[in-house]
Amino acid sequence: MTDRELLNMAFGAAENAYAPYSGFRVGAALECADGSVFLGCNVENAAYGDTVCAERTAVLKAVSEGRREFVRIAVAAPTAEDYCLPCGSCLQVLREFSADMEILAARGDGHYVSYKLSALLPRTSIKNEMSGRRSE
Ligand code: THU
Repeated sequence: MTDRELLNMAFGAAENAYAPYSGFRVGAALECADGSVFLGCNVENAAYGDTVCAERTAVLKAVSEGRREFVRIAVAAPTAEDYCLPCGSCLQVLREFSADMEILAARGDGHYVSYKLSALLPRTSIKNEMSGRRSE
C-alpha cells in the first residue's frame, strides 16, 4: 500500500470523528505487520479530558483484534493548516508496540511529512524499567 492510499484512508476515517467541542476532526489509519489496517477517529467528551485521539482509537481497535505489530500510521485532519502530528500520549501508546514504525502526518491540503516514531519520541525508559514485570 502506498503512503497516499493510507493517508486517504485516514482522511476517510476523519468523517466519523465525534468532535462537537473542538470542531477539529482527525482520522488515523494504522497499518499492521500482516497488512491489515485499522481506522480511528477522535471521540470527544463533555468531560474534555476523557477525549480519545484518533491514533489511540486505531491502536485500541488493532490490539483488541489481536494485532500488536505496527508498520505505519497515517494521521489526517481535513481542516489542519499544519501537519497533524500525534500528541505525546499517542506517541507513548504507539511506542509500547513499536520503536521504529513510520508516522505520516498530513495537512488538510493533503501534503504530508513522514517520521520514524523514534525521531518524535527519541528516549523513553519506562518500558525497560517494567520489562522484568512483563508476563507476556
Ligand atoms: N486530536 C487527535 O485526535 N489526534 C491528534 O494528533 C491531535 C489531536 C484530537 C483530540 C481532540 O479531539 C481534537 O483533536 C483537538 O485537540
